[in-house]
Amino acid sequence: ARNLAQHNEIYNRNILITAGPTQEQIDPARYFTNYSSGKMGYALAKAARSLGGKVTLISGPSSQTPPKGVSFISVTSAQDMLEAVQSHSQDSDIIIKSAAVADYKPIQTLQQKQKKKMSNWSIEMEKTTDILAALGNQKQEGQILVGFAAETDQVEQYARGKLEKKHLDMIVANQIGQEGTGFHSDSNEVLILTKDERQKRVSKAPKLEIAYEILNEISHYIVRNGS
Ligand code: CTP
Ligand code: CA
Repeated sequence: ARNLAQHNEIYNRNILITAGPTQEQIDPARYFTNYSSGKMGYALAKAARSLGGKVTLISGPSSQTPPKGVSFISVTSAQDMLEAVQSHSQDSDIIIKSAAVADYKPIQTLQQKQKKKMSNWSIEMEKTTDILAALGNQKQEGQILVGFAAETDQVEQYARGKLEKKHLDMIVANQIGQEGTGFHSDSNEVLILTKDERQKRVSKAPKLEIAYEILNEISHYIVRNGS
């Protein structure tokens, strides 16, 4: 059994969690998105709540049900998520960014539906703001910032790079593009890396169990580093 009793640093803290994909509108009929289901973020919210955390969940479009006792904010685009996160980040002790934010959005949203009169259609896209990197740049003293990394290859190397570049305390890396883990799956397998050079591999388990493992690592990190 998990021994969380002595190391529950989640209790009574303000915890901000983001989940799901974002949708970037192309025209009134179409949008650009990704395969995120929101399951990992909702599982984190549920687990953090049951450990006594004061949880705010900011989610892009997802079919998951917000857990009871969690303050829920629904958003659509990366820009919406950025604004919602910015307005809550100051009050947060721990921020966990499990959302799969769209990296690009159409440069313009068409007001009329694009008709199929062309044989080819190119949509020009521009980068969205990296919400996590913005949080890393404005991080408050003692605030714990946890990111995710979805990689198809060189998982550890790319995840370590994101941990450093975005000034994170912890990154949870998962390999995508495999059966039985990642986006739509009910289970996941992750590699947790911390700023203080701890590494923990969590083998394949239901996302709720992975969520407790991640929160347990956060508790231990807080105990080791103080705050
Ligand atoms: N992220 C974010 N805002 C974005 C893009 C990503 O906050 N516009 C966050 C995600 O929520 C996640 C982390 O950055 O916690 C890593 O996302 P990932 O897609 O793995 O990495 P990127 O930095 O976007 O780089 P790339 O997609 O090129 O691997
Ligand atoms: Ca990305």
